[in-house]
Amino acid sequence: MIITGALVGSSGAILSYIMCKGMNRSIFNVLLGGFGGDSAAAAAGPAGDRAVKSGSAEDAGFILKNASKVIIVPGYGMAVAQAQHALREMSDLLKEEGVEVAYAVHPVAGRMPGHMNVLLAEANVPYDEVFELEEINHEFSTADVAFVIGANDVTNPAAKTDTASPIYGMPILDVENSGTVLFLKRSMASGYAGVDNELFFRDNTMMVFGDAKKTTEEIVQAVG
Ligand code: TAP
Repeated sequence: MIITGALVGSSGAILSYIMCKGMNRSIFNVLLGGFGGDSAAAAAGPAGDRAVKSGSAEDAGFILKNASKVIIVPGYGMAVAQAQHALREMSDLLKEEGVEVAYAVHPVAGRMPGHMNVLLAEANVPYDEVFELEEINHEFSTADVAFVIGANDVTNPAAKTDTASPIYGMPILDVENSGTVLFLKRSMASGYAGVDNELFFRDNTMMVFGDAKKTTEEIVQAVG
């Protein structure tokens, strides 16, 4: 029992270390601090009355079908919705249409190390289409569409610019450099860190509200 306990404890420590590395935060900072809470950025409040562009699954399907290159950014919401199979189906259809498709996986997307990789593998997404942040981040500027499915914090540019933000310093996926950014999520709600994402209000962003699996299935219908 002592040996098993030690093994469990040390694997937990290793996982925590990997997570902290991905968030660019020290282990002490995470253990003693934590996200959310009462930081200035977190207290900034909800989106309020600011206007956002939103579109239907059909609109998203049209944009995707007419793209040359699409980079998919999965996050926690994809896992919650279990949308990975519909997502693979959507990618297959797009590839049949001649669209280049790649997946960009942030080291802390989801809620545990490797969360997205496991789900994408379960849905038989080919390994050679899945890239880590450092490998693919420069490619957003050459993509027509960034398809952000249930991800939020891992795309938030506040991590680069807002020193008061709890995610300041975390590397992020530069989705905003793509021609169009599609965010599939249910609402304007924040993610794990509890901070608003300025990208939702950008000119090149279209929100597609709804459950990630349901919306992706509707996109499959629209593209197919
Ligand atoms: P988050 O920033 O947590 O955002 C996930 C988004 O998914 C939410 O904003 C939510 O918006 C949406 N969502 C939830 N259920 C959905 C559904 N059924 N359909 C569609 N969208 C849904 O996720 P992320 O971008 O993957 O970032 C991960 C966060 O977790 C980071 O802050 C990271 O530091 C933290 N974290 C990661 C780990 C590891 S190791 N991966 C461990 C602990 C903490 P709506 O509510 O509007 O739908």
